[in-house]
Amino acid sequence: MKIVVLFPEAVEGQDNQLLNTDKAIGLKSFLQDKGHELVILKDGKEDLDKHLEDMEVVISAPFYPAYMTKERIEKAPNLKLAITAGVGSDHVDLDAASQHNISVVEVTGSNTVSVAEHAVMDLLILLRNYEEGHRQSKEGEWNLSQVGNDAYELQHKTIGIFGFGRIGQLVAERLAPFNVTIQHYDPINQKDNEHSKFVKFDELVKTSDAITIHAPLTPETDNLFNSDVLAKMKDGSFLVNTARGKIVNTDALVKALEDKHIQGYAGDVWYPQPAPADHPWRTMPRNAMTVHYSGMTLEAQKRIEDGVKDILDRFFNDQPFQDKDVIVSGGRISSASYNAKND
Ligand SMILES: NC(=O)c1ccc[n+]([C@@H]2O[C@H](COP(=O)([O-])OP(=O)(O)OC[C@H]3O[C@@H](n4cnc5c(N)ncnc54)[C@H](O)[C@@H]3O)[C@@H](O)[C@H]2O)c1
Repeated sequence: MKIVVLFPEAVEGQDNQLLNTDKAIGLKSFLQDKGHELVILKDGKEDLDKHLEDMEVVISAPFYPAYMTKERIEKAPNLKLAITAGVGSDHVDLDAASQHNISVVEVTGSNTVSVAEHAVMDLLILLRNYEEGHRQSKEGEWNLSQVGNDAYELQHKTIGIFGFGRIGQLVAERLAPFNVTIQHYDPINQKDNEHSKFVKFDELVKTSDAITIHAPLTPETDNLFNSDVLAKMKDGSFLVNTARGKIVNTDALVKALEDKHIQGYAGDVWYPQPAPADHPWRTMPRNAMTVHYSGMTLEAQKRIEDGVKDILDRFFNDQPFQDKDVIVSGGRISSASYNAKND
């Protein structure tokens, strides 16, 4: 079977990293031992296109996605399985995959703690004005008035969680000891839990001092945080997004930060990825952006490796995938998270 993987290029000396063209999450020996052909790509454009015709499985990570658009899927008549080496399968056109009977399967839960920790860190970085304090320290300055002018405590703030699934709930659990008020919006998970109260979307947007986004990218969430929604957010509030870049409108966010209506933005997700050098989010005011790595801790990478091998084993042995991992199968989107409709 021909299996095509797209991973970021390995650099010599980075021996811990599993998700790259060198280690390829252990797939080289795993697949060779089973007699399969493995093609490892570092370019997700022309190189990927060359292999569409005869690939049977495609594997990529959301950090460095192989964008399997409708056009690409139509040119891949032998493709049966698209594996996401991580969580979040929006880089595959899920409707086209359904129509062409391609299964889309991911390693659900593999990096949820890593992302939850990162989101809590981002909230602290923004509220405490860490970026300015760090900038001064690196650049030889000691301007305490400038950094103190925008530094806040987290305690007593109202934190809104958009998308209360695995990651959203872990964020609430981790935020609770900071003595904050936590509220969430989720079209499926509308129950209060011990840490967080369910509120309608409009209330979440209007009453949160900071919002952290943890929903998948779907037609419902695509561009949801546009200029209208950003305008409804509290003046001087903060926004964190470790879910998907496209959930927030690129230009509307820049404008909201320039106007100081939104006080700061942090996250690790962009559109497209890799983000071009001139992407406006790299230079917009009060940003604490990173490249997409919140879910790529070494612990998470190991879980991703094990999960991808488990998915492949099941596929080769004609066994069902684990329900939790399945996004598309049998010609339909079966994941509840990807089918959720805003109420
Ligand atoms: N930055 C990273 O490295 C990284 C890593 C893992 C996951 N993610 C992103 O985080 C997302 C969430 O991951 P998870 O493991 O918590 O998934 P999950 O499926 O457990 O939870 C997602 C939640 O979002 C909710 N949701 C769906 N549509 C919604 C909508 N329109 N409005 C509000 N909520 C909605 C679902 O009902 C569900 O409860 C993934 O889909 C992925 O895009 C990012």
